[in-house]
Amino acid sequence: MIVNGTHYRTVWLEDGSSPCVKIIDQRFLPHRFVVEELFSFNQMVEAVKEMHLRGAGLIGAAAAFGMYLAAHELRLSSNFDSQLHAMAERLMQTRPTAVNLAWAVNRQLSAIREVHSIDQKVEAARETALQIADEDAQNCRSIGLHGVDIIERISKAKRGEVVNVLTHCNAGWLAFVDYGTATAPIYEAHHRGVKIHVWVDETRPRNQGASLTAWELLAEGVPHTLIPDNAGGHLMQHGMVDLVITGADRITSNGDAANKIGTYLKALAAADNGIPFYIAAPSSSFDWSLTDGVGQIPIEQRHPDEVRYVSGLANGRVESVLICPSATPVANYGFDVTPARLIAGIITERGVCTASNESIQFIFPDKF
Ligand code: MRU
Repeated sequence: MIVNGTHYRTVWLEDGSSPCVKIIDQRFLPHRFVVEELFSFNQMVEAVKEMHLRGAGLIGAAAAFGMYLAAHELRLSSNFDSQLHAMAERLMQTRPTAVNLAWAVNRQLSAIREVHSIDQKVEAARETALQIADEDAQNCRSIGLHGVDIIERISKAKRGEVVNVLTHCNAGWLAFVDYGTATAPIYEAHHRGVKIHVWVDETRPRNQGASLTAWELLAEGVPHTLIPDNAGGHLMQHGMVDLVITGADRITSNGDAANKIGTYLKALAAADNGIPFYIAAPSSSFDWSLTDGVGQIPIEQRHPDEVRYVSGLANGRVESVLICPSATPVANYGFDVTPARLIAGIITERGVCTASNESIQFIFPDKF
């Protein structure tokens, strides 16, 4: 995507005497656009864990680059394989819900296993990381092209009136390598001249909707309005939402979808108001082995201070402020699961399927 006239991806590699992975440090958005340079595996682990970067597809791609940094660091080690596996394990534990991370790390381990010399292994890790990043961007682009049909259909039914989409969290280009998932059909519709408006949930506690999705939509010139997380139901009851599109961090083979905490409540409100609720996600977000999202998807719990404090710009500086008694106990579940029965369809890089085992198998027969 374009920032200040320059095309950026969210993660990229700069080769040199030693490799450097560059990322957009999302902790500073929307107030400052900062690029961070990561030279070591440990720095990448920290960046993923502390959410310098975040979003399902992006943590997958970043983990793939992390594995390349690991392989490069171990190139003189006599214990390459066992040390690499230990580092892979550490990376996989940083963010447990989004399956893209484990998927990318496992893909790296398979690619590295295929070749024999250490030099070949390091090169395989480099090539695989670049491939994963390119595929992520390409898949998001395809999601946009498939998903735009849904928006165009609604636009036609409304005789060209504005289509109102509600989204939760940030499943935009910042959450992937480029384009995003939930936002890709929105960007495509906007580029095609479809009148569209997006209701952006602020998405407590970290406010990815307010700080990231709003920033992206503003930069792309897409009309949007920021709303508190609890406003969606009211808007739906008053005919102000035509469809909901969110991303997903892990989807089971029967179509249950884990996404940022609060998504389930939007799906319930959408069902009560007869509004279609879509998930947009690439195949790397599917966990083909699971069949019960609520029972089987691990839900990340994060630090209580994310709930106790809110951060924002004050007098030109980013400040955090305490919003409750400091000793108040906090529960901070990062994600919830929307059951397949509440999902109208899943927009993937291969097309739109219903949230059912049969329909998912139909478009991904090679994964079963
Ligand atoms: O905790 P985050 O910001 O990494 O959350 C993941 C997400 O970005 C959302 O759940 C998103 O909607 C999923 S699609 C990237």
